[in-house]
Amino acid sequence: MRIVAIAGSLRAASFNQQLVRTADAHAPPGAVVEVWQGLGQVPPYSEDTDLDPAPPQVAELRGVLAAADAVLIATPEYNGSVPGQLKNALDWASRPFPDSALRDKPVVDWASRPFPDSALRDKPVAVIGASVSPGGTRSAQAELRKVLARIGADPLERTVPVASAWSAFDAEGQLTDEPALRELRVLLAELHDQTQPTIEPAAS
Ligand code: FNR
Repeated sequence: MRIVAIAGSLRAASFNQQLVRTADAHAPPGAVVEVWQGLGQVPPYSEDTDLDPAPPQVAELRGVLAAADAVLIATPEYNGSVPGQLKNALDWASRPFPDSALRDKPVVDWASRPFPDSALRDKPVAVIGASVSPGGTRSAQAELRKVLARIGADPLERTVPVASAWSAFDAEGQLTDEPALRELRVLLAELHDQTQPTIEPAAS
């Protein structure tokens, strides 16, 4: 089972980059976490360039997400919300709107099923995040879960906020906060379970 992880920070010494690397070391048996590092190359979203074929980095993003069994996103918090480049990537991922005969037709039911062709449609997604403040990106995580639900992904209710990052990580950038590590393991196990087929009890 493959979990694709994205850190929403472009900073070289990012705590959120460290967080997704830590997740790999704590994945449950049978799961691997692959960190996607292409976020910085995703161009600004414009409907004028959202064409077929998509810009190469966008095609890569969509392909990586579509092929994943589950997605893990570590978001920093910028001014109480999700960093712009991460939101920009999710806007790209939410498309393409179907280029089928239904495109632009009023029968498309936006309210109940927006973005049916999104690379994240029905995808289990877990949200985590680290910040230097005591809030641990709780506001950004709530906003991110809202966007993911709007896109049609399946965001887990459980999240992991890592607060006061300067003390939660050691000088080498390793997450050493034991409660946070425990929460991360529980979240990854839940994400793994979310990808397993539900077995219906046999009829008697
Ligand atoms: C921040 N930071 C921040 N922290 C927070 O807890 N709440 C916030 O609203 C903000 N706002 C904010 C805005 C901007 C523009 C920057 C650059 C930073 C601080 C942030 O938590 C800190 O820089 C983290 O270290 C960012 O995550 P990475 O880059 O370490 O992954």
